[in-house]
Amino acid sequence: MDMDVKWAKDKKFALSKEAAAFLADKSRHKLLIDGEWVDAASGETFPAIDPASGQTIAHIAAGGKEDVNRAVKVARRAFEEGPWAKMSAANRGKLLWKLADLLEERATAFAEIESLDNGKPVVAAEAADLPLSIETIRYIAGWATKVTGQAHHFEPCFAPGEEFFSYTLKEPVGVVGQVIPWNFPLLMATWKIAPALAAGCTVVLKPAEQTSMTALWLGQLIEEAGFPKGVVNIITGFGETAGAAVASHPDIDKVAFTGSTEVGKLIVKAATGNLKKVSLELGGKSPAVVFPDADLDLAIPGAANAIFFNVGQVCTAGSRLYVHKSIFDKVLDGVAEQAKAIKVGPGLDRETQMGPLVSEEQLKRVTGYMALGFDEGARAVCGGKQIGEEGFFVEPTVLVDVGPDMKVVREEIFGPVVVAQPFEDLDEIAKVANDTEYGLASSVWTRDVNKAHRMARKIEAGTVWVNCHHVFDPSIPFGGYKQSGWGRELGQEVMDLYLQTKAVMMKL
Ligand code: NAI
Ligand code: MG
Repeated sequence: MDMDVKWAKDKKFALSKEAAAFLADKSRHKLLIDGEWVDAASGETFPAIDPASGQTIAHIAAGGKEDVNRAVKVARRAFEEGPWAKMSAANRGKLLWKLADLLEERATAFAEIESLDNGKPVVAAEAADLPLSIETIRYIAGWATKVTGQAHHFEPCFAPGEEFFSYTLKEPVGVVGQVIPWNFPLLMATWKIAPALAAGCTVVLKPAEQTSMTALWLGQLIEEAGFPKGVVNIITGFGETAGAAVASHPDIDKVAFTGSTEVGKLIVKAATGNLKKVSLELGGKSPAVVFPDADLDLAIPGAANAIFFNVGQVCTAGSRLYVHKSIFDKVLDGVAEQAKAIKVGPGLDRETQMGPLVSEEQLKRVTGYMALGFDEGARAVCGGKQIGEEGFFVEPTVLVDVGPDMKVVREEIFGPVVVAQPFEDLDEIAKVANDTEYGLASSVWTRDVNKAHRMARKIEAGTVWVNCHHVFDPSIPFGGYKQSGWGRELGQEVMDLYLQTKAVMMKL
């Protein structure tokens, strides 16, 4: 595969004025606490790295425990006193709409910064990350005014003939800590912040250390939109320090996390101190199942996109491909052909279809899994190697000759590596598809409506896609079965993550 990796400073990938200005302005690469941009208490910084070149693009404040403590204090104050605590739900919704408008005005520049910081193709950020982020904020803004309790008149079972009236109040859970990953940095920030604010909570957000830039810029738009100070605080920094301080903080009422299952378990443990509420969106090893009656013109590019979109760094990646044995070779040839045709390159190149992995650590993890797969006896139909020496690029890879006990079949690789296996019948494949500790997503490819619905019932996962994969909409609840998580984001259900119910009863 021919590669031509150049740094964004290169003329070919010149940034828009707005994006370049954000990148150049060091005063914006700090912590947001109480409406002010401040250095970390320690004075330390860490580099933001362009994964296409490995070069440093900015230095960001390395927040730690002390900074989290400060942020929680101001978030508590903002929750209990002042304009936010008194603000009507309608006005919270309006502020969210304003934020979405501001983001939309800068969508192109945000897509560029996302591409530079994360590595993803700028065209993908423009087509997916930005519109989804903007529309998530708008969709959730609408829920602010629609949260209501229920009224009820009842005769208690212990006191026949007596009359009681009750109602429920839906109240914001309080100060919320949110720890997010690097695969969809801006989108994950909006998924987290928007419902917390719609509910009336205040926020301490900890972006992933690999990708802080768009969260910081979003923080600036939050200020610009007119949210009162202290309502959203952003603490950039590392997981073991800033992230851990959020998870264990005694005055944070709820923590929402997206990331690895391993860290999800650490968050649960850390939350036991004050029994803060926890919601988790964790890893996956999602099956894509292609039946012999599938429309292969859909299923082949669909299965390829299921694993190769975002370099496979997607929690819902279709990383286990199961194809009926009668069409196995045909589908595998097709997927491999798709893989070979993918244009891999720097995200800012508008021709690029697949960018680099996010970091050197992720490159090591993914190439490590490739090597492990070969050790375990797998064979690559295509790919299987790193590309070049600059940046963190790997080849789109299809592995066959794999078995159910192999690590590459059981563990989340989080790279463009799919393991493919043949199957014979529906009952067998449902069991195989469910033979995983995860349960985030799945896809079923068939023209048979009965088969589609029977599989949808049998699969143990929070999402079942039929004849599609990676379809997201703010109105559709998203989350995991089994070790893929707790709770549902998006849809009406997301509001439950940030609300608690109070029952009020009155004797008439
Ligand atoms: P990670 O789970 O360590 O990082 C996610 C977030 O958690 C980051 O903001 C990080 O700073 C924070 N974090 C890390 N350790 C923490 C701790 N002890 N306490 C509180 N917060 C902490 O993920 P990592 O190491 O970047 O990637 C490892 C693997 O995790 C990937 O290969 C992939 O399999 C999975 N992953 C899954 C994601 C998903 O969307 N479900 C997103 C990112 C990674
Ligand atoms: Mg980690």
